[in-house]
Amino acid sequence: MKNLVERIKKLKSEKNAIVLAHSYQNIEIDEVADFVGDSLYLSRQAEKTDADIIVFAGVYFMAQTAKIISPSKKVLLPNLHAGCLMADMINHEQMVNFKKNYPDIPVVCYINSTAEVKAECDICCTSSNAVEIVRSLNTKRVLFVPDANLGKWVEKQLNGVEVIAYNGNCPVHHNVKISDIKEARDKYPLAKILIHPECKPEISALGDYVGSTSGIIDYVKKSPEKQFVIVTEKGVADRLKRDYPDREFILIKDDMLCESMKLTTLEEIWHALEYEVNEINLDEEVRRLSYNCIDRMLKVPV
Ligand code: 13P
Ligand code: SF4
Repeated sequence: MKNLVERIKKLKSEKNAIVLAHSYQNIEIDEVADFVGDSLYLSRQAEKTDADIIVFAGVYFMAQTAKIISPSKKVLLPNLHAGCLMADMINHEQMVNFKKNYPDIPVVCYINSTAEVKAECDICCTSSNAVEIVRSLNTKRVLFVPDANLGKWVEKQLNGVEVIAYNGNCPVHHNVKISDIKEARDKYPLAKILIHPECKPEISALGDYVGSTSGIIDYVKKSPEKQFVIVTEKGVADRLKRDYPDREFILIKDDMLCESMKLTTLEEIWHALEYEVNEINLDEEVRRLSYNCIDRMLKVPV
């Protein structure tokens, strides 16, 4: 494996390439990653980089977003089967029909969606800026796709804004139950419970902190506490255990696993970079329209 890591690093420098890795990736991917973090952080890196090639160790919509933002760069997704169950819950036709029922209401699109869906929306958001993005619209009603849990959580944070949410969710987070949180509170009364807002809003309401994957990691960094219950995908708990060996991290349930995120291997990163395969390409009109949605988000100061 050491050899493989060295070969990827050599290829990166020969080809002026970077590797962006999401915090849910298999932890060994970090050895070759230039940046590891949440969707917003990685989008900003894709926007800023002067690399010629971006290898995206993540899922399809993330690589597609990098291509939308940086169309002149070659964006490679090491495993083309790495999709997102939530993004797959709404296609272009369903998006258009949803909007038809609510004319003249601004549409906010969670970044976990396809370019075709983003192209129909007014502004994008991620889990770390969703509240601020909806607030920035200064409106009483918004449509929110595809994540109903995040949409309803945003509604709770903003007094007086009605969020009309599409009925999508992330099965990994949606399956967390109130009883799981209550059991964790009973078993670890001193622990801080850190929750991703893709969980149901009634679950998020029980957390000590609710935020994106990077938000959860930052919370731990700044906290003097020693014990934390992690209510998001296993990759976040794995990284925290590695980075803070003197603290205790309890993953809320063993099955907090995003199978798509775990598909990417070091071998596939090497293969994609060596042969420059698995490139993300987009129809230019779709790219332009989806760019407007993402660019508007990136311009909101958060
Ligand atoms: P973050 O933006 O918090 O990284 O979340 C992305 C995601 O897919 C969570 O399931
Ligand atoms: Fe999609 Fe859920 Fe995986 Fe995040 S954890 S990439 S929302 S399937």
